[in-house]
Amino acid sequence: MLMLAGKKIIIGITGSIAAYKMPLVVRQLIKAGAEVKVIMTPAGTDFVSKLTLSTLSKNTVLVDLFDDQSWANHVELGRWADLMLIAPLSCNTLAKIAAGQCDNLLLAVYLSAICPVMIAPAMDEDMWHHPNTKKNLEVLRGNGNIILNTVYGELASGLIGEGRMAEPEDIVAEMEHFFKTSNQLKGKKALVSAGPTYEAIDPVRFIGNHSSGKMGYAIADELANRGAEVTLVSGPVSIQSKNKKIKLVSVTSADEMHTTCTADSASYDIAVMAAAIADYTPTVVADQKIKKKEGELTITLKKTKDVLGSLGKTKTKEQILVGFALETENEKANAQKKLEEKNADLIILNSLKDEGAGFGHDTNKVTLFFKNGKEKQIELKSKSALAKDIVDAIIEIK
Ligand code: CTP
Repeated sequence: MLMLAGKKIIIGITGSIAAYKMPLVVRQLIKAGAEVKVIMTPAGTDFVSKLTLSTLSKNTVLVDLFDDQSWANHVELGRWADLMLIAPLSCNTLAKIAAGQCDNLLLAVYLSAICPVMIAPAMDEDMWHHPNTKKNLEVLRGNGNIILNTVYGELASGLIGEGRMAEPEDIVAEMEHFFKTSNQLKGKKALVSAGPTYEAIDPVRFIGNHSSGKMGYAIADELANRGAEVTLVSGPVSIQSKNKKIKLVSVTSADEMHTTCTADSASYDIAVMAAAIADYTPTVVADQKIKKKEGELTITLKKTKDVLGSLGKTKTKEQILVGFALETENEKANAQKKLEEKNADLIILNSLKDEGAGFGHDTNKVTLFFKNGKEKQIELKSKSALAKDIVDAIIEIK
């Protein structure tokens, strides 16, 4: 718990039954040497007493934006903290945050906070799975908030399911992890490519692929969470960059991807090529829309430039280069060959055989092949959790 000593933490408590667990979180943080200030929504006070929380946090618990005498300085509070934790985050406050509302102190501090915000949602399973909840969580993710997973178990409704708030010791462990890792890559520059490329056939048609960009975006996000300065070069995708700290450069074709990624390659400490870049592109792009005619149509393709290969050629000893591989046969041998031929430090082999892995899914299952011959299998997990493992592996190489 060393990392928590001296840290200034704001805890926001909203109206959910899981609020009764928050005194335990406050107590553990104080024991670890952190400074804690608790803010509650009016509904939060129905579930756990202000007296308990003020006694444990050794600070006055704040609820209202102002009372008869004074006005709570939300800007000052937002600037005071090293981390803001909102736990439990109720469905109602989630919706209010997503809509940018500001009708209580907790919401005003959220909007004023310049520190990272971690949230631990808590709600009944049906509410948790509702499309509105998912949409609202995406808004918070887009704000760069760290969202802790809910857990499966007994719910206040008596049902068993998903939506339970993470347990107090896990929340504290996540906070500890946050402080331990947030500066690991400070001062480092990282380049990440993501998504598909579109290779024009004529003004209205292209050759593309099913890459969603999710894996590359998750890696970019995680590198930024660890303090790196990230440039994300993205092909056409429907997802949005989740982190305002990331510099996004949008490209369309393999050629643009190559030009953009290699332009300033000497300045990067880390490069992760997660994009599914076309290997071939039409030799000629028709000026006008190709009209249909009798018989077959043949499109001749030429090879594109290999971005990973080009970065491998200019790579210095200090730079770390990571590539992906998608193989349908001789997976291991081909991944190892790719590692060598592209002069990469790490190749991440996507498993095509497992359900829930690869293109378009939110989860993935991979094997890591390191330059030193080491191999590491990672079980099926969310792409954001996998991004953490991949960034850990990059840090290990460093
Ligand atoms: N890649 C790249 N430039 C290309 C094609 C691919 O940088 N023009 C990168 C991808 O971003 C990925 C890695 O190469 O990191 C592996 O892509 P893959 O298509 O599996 O490998 P190829 O090098 O194209 O080899 P092969 O088609 O023989 O599998």
